[in-house]
Amino acid sequence: MKTFNDLAELSNEEISALLELADRLDKQPEPQALQGKVLSLLFLSPSLRTLASFQAAMTRLGGGSFVISPDMSIHGLETRPGIVMDGEAAEHINEAVPVIASYGDAIGIRAFAERKNLEHDMAETEFNSLTSLIDTPWINMESAMNHPCQNLADWKTLDDLDVPANGGKFVLSWAFHPKALPLAVPASTLYTAARRGMDVTVLRPEGFELPDAVMQRARTAAESAGGSVQETDDRADAMQDAHIIYAKSWTSTRHYGDRMNDQKLRNELVDWCVDEAWFGNAQDDCRFMHCLPVRRGVVVSDAVLDGPRSVVIHEARNRMLAQMAVLHRMLGGGQ
Ligand code: CP
Repeated sequence: MKTFNDLAELSNEEISALLELADRLDKQPEPQALQGKVLSLLFLSPSLRTLASFQAAMTRLGGGSFVISPDMSIHGLETRPGIVMDGEAAEHINEAVPVIASYGDAIGIRAFAERKNLEHDMAETEFNSLTSLIDTPWINMESAMNHPCQNLADWKTLDDLDVPANGGKFVLSWAFHPKALPLAVPASTLYTAARRGMDVTVLRPEGFELPDAVMQRARTAAESAGGSVQETDDRADAMQDAHIIYAKSWTSTRHYGDRMNDQKLRNELVDWCVDEAWFGNAQDDCRFMHCLPVRRGVVVSDAVLDGPRSVVIHEARNRMLAQMAVLHRMLGGGQ
């Protein structure tokens, strides 16, 4: 495996093999599998889980890792192309990325969406320009539209919970958040649930529709896998018989890059906070998923997050296991 960028680039067999490997590495640790291997980790955007779980994954497999982020005492990083560097930044990303990559056997990169121009972000313009600077294997640790490590971990969580792939109902729900957040998690989570063959409903208020291309990609994946994709702003309709609610806030695509109008729209939607009342007509054991970090009392109530429905800690631990499988396959042969 040379890159891990998007579940859409993997066959069903490759996804199944990664999930099996993640399970195996949990039950039968291989503390020397990646002995002598080094993973470079470049965080141009913040993290807790991705940062910690990649380092833990490498250590558990016998390899090592190092982290570079703008918060560290590195030279100021310039990311704009064609700029005269007569300001604060003393190092351009065009040198920094290949240098960092050259110290490792593979590199993970996180760079969130700029959120100024939807077309630009949908095309992964910034992320592609970063990966074009690398000739080692690389891992997408969250780009403008993708979060494949989260997606693989979430797929494993659904399998662990015995949520039916065909016939299972997955609700991806927008939730209130004071800030406009990126589309990477909702877009790639929608694809993942559809690709798994589930009946997926996107529950979102007016103005927060996901881009047409994102919906279409999911519909195509669902059709091939025997699932379906619906969209509604009706909570009771969406939650009817749901096995999973996956909450996430995202920016208004109607006002993409326009903070003032996005804010105006979301200010009216503070009641989009998942609480027990949402589960009235869902399956009795309907579970709550979220990629974390999550704002308590804003996105979800304490009662749901601390109660038996919540699987967010299991989900977060699966990040480490899923990434161990990816690293094993990428750097150790992974059989
Ligand atoms: N879910 C996730 O990617 O968490 P972090 O942003 O903390 O890495």
